[in-house]
Amino acid sequence: MIRLSSSEKEILSKIGAAADALQIDAYAVGGFVRDKLLNRPSKDIDIVCIGNGIEFAQKAAEQFENPSKVNVFQNFGTAQFIVDNFEIEFVGARKESYRRDSRKPIVEDGTMQDDQERRDFTINALSISLNNKSFAELIDPFEGMKDLENKIIRTPLNPNKTYSDDPLRMMRAIRFATQLDFTIEEKSLQAISSMADRIKIISQERITDELNKIILSPKPSIGFKLLEETGLLPYFFKQMVDLKGVERRKGLGHKDNFYHTIEVLDNIAPNTNNLWLRWAAILHDIAKPATKRFEEGHGWTFHGHEWLGGKMVPKIFKQLKLPNNEKMKYVQKLVRLHLRPIALAKEEITDSAIRRLLFDAGEDTDDLLTLCNADITSKNPEKVKRYKKNFERVKEKLVEVEEKDNIRNWQPPITGEIIMKTFNLKPSKTVGDLKLAVREAILDGDISNEYDAAFAFLLQKGEELNLTPQI
Ligand code: CTP
Repeated sequence: MIRLSSSEKEILSKIGAAADALQIDAYAVGGFVRDKLLNRPSKDIDIVCIGNGIEFAQKAAEQFENPSKVNVFQNFGTAQFIVDNFEIEFVGARKESYRRDSRKPIVEDGTMQDDQERRDFTINALSISLNNKSFAELIDPFEGMKDLENKIIRTPLNPNKTYSDDPLRMMRAIRFATQLDFTIEEKSLQAISSMADRIKIISQERITDELNKIILSPKPSIGFKLLEETGLLPYFFKQMVDLKGVERRKGLGHKDNFYHTIEVLDNIAPNTNNLWLRWAAILHDIAKPATKRFEEGHGWTFHGHEWLGGKMVPKIFKQLKLPNNEKMKYVQKLVRLHLRPIALAKEEITDSAIRRLLFDAGEDTDDLLTLCNADITSKNPEKVKRYKKNFERVKEKLVEVEEKDNIRNWQPPITGEIIMKTFNLKPSKTVGDLKLAVREAILDGDISNEYDAAFAFLLQKGEELNLTPQI
C-alpha cells in the first residue's frame, strides 16, 4: 500500500476533486509513485488524465489557495504548476512513448494502459488513482510492485521496442540499477548490448545527466561495470575504456586501471557527495595507458601520468559537455596533485615539502587528502594497512605545519608592488623573478614567513642583481 504524507494526501485529493468535477479519470504516475513505494523523497508529481491535460491543470490549480502560475506548453499538451514545493505536471494519457523533455508534439490520445505500457520500466509505470471513489488505489498492469520487491529493472513491453522508442533509456536502466542497487533483467541487458550504438542519436547533455547520477550513487562501480559490459561506454567515454586490461612482461603485470579507478570511486563515495571530487577520482589515472612503459629491471611505470592526466581533463570535459569553468580547473588540479601526499609518505617528511603541498593545493588540500585516501587500494591487506599508516603520518604533519605556518590560502608577504617601489622598477621579468625568489625561500624554510625577514631577503637578492633600493 502506498503511504502518503498528510500534505501529499491533501494535494492529491484536491487534484482528484478537480478530476471528479470534470468527470475524468486521473492518476499520479511514474517516479513519484515509485519513490513513495521505496520510501525515497520526491517533490515532482506527474499526473496523467484521460482527457485534456491542460484544462485539467487549470481546474486543479483552482483548488489551491496559493498555487504558482500555471505554465502551459500547448504544443506538447502539458501544463505545470507548483504548490507547497511540489512541482506538479499534467498531461493527457498518450499512445506514444513518454518523455518529459520530448520535443515532439503529442499525436494521439490513449488509454491509461497505453500510457503505462509506453513508459520505460515496470517500476516507473505504476500509478495510483486520484478520483474520490478509488483514491490511492494502485494500478499495476505490468507487475511493477513485484519487480520493486525483487529489485528488478524490466521493461513493460519487449525491451527492443522500449529502448528503440528512446535509446536514452539504456542509460536510465543502468542509472536506476546503480542508484537503487537493482538487477537489470537478462533480456533487457541483452537488448542494450545489441543496440548500444543507438545511443549515438542521443545528445551528450542527456547522456551526461544520467552518467552524473550514476557517479553520485552510493556504489557507482555498479554502473560503470554495466556501461562497460553492455558496450555503451566507448560511445561517449573511450578514455575510460582504455584503462581496461593488464599487460604482463617477464612475469610482471600491473593493476587493471579500469577496476582500480572504479574501486577508488566507490571508496570516495561515502566520504563526499561533491560530484567534482568524484570526477577527480574517475580521472586521476586517466593518462596511465598513454604513459605506460616497461623498464628493464624495474617493471611497469607510468611516469608523468598525473601531468598528462591534468592536460586531458579539459578535453574530456568538453567531450562530455561538462562545464568549462572553475569546476574543471578544480578536477584538473586534483588530478595533477594526486600523487603528492603519497609520494611524501614514502620519504622523510620535511617541513618544506609539506609547505609546498599546502601552497599548491591551497583550499583544496582536504579534498586532495580525501582523494589520496580513496586511492589506496591493493589486494594485499597488509600493504593497505601500511600505506594508510604512512598516509596518516602525512596528515598529522600537514596539521602541524599548517598550525605553525598557515600556508593554505597564503600570499607571500612581499608583493610585486613592494618590489617595484623598493627598486623603482617598472613591471618586468625582474619583478617576477624577485617575487618568486622570496616565495621559494619561504617555502623552502630558508627564511621565516614574515615581512621583515622577507624584506631583508629581498634587499639581499636586489644587491646580487646590482639594484639600488630607493630608501
Ligand atoms: N519516462 C520514460 N522514458 C524516459 C523518461 C521518462 O518512460 N526516457 C517516464 C517514466 O515513467 C518516468 C517518468 O517518465 O518515471 C518521469 O520521468 P523523469 O522525471 O525523467 O524520471 P523519474 O522516473 O521521475 O526519475 P528521476 O526523478 O530520478 O529522474
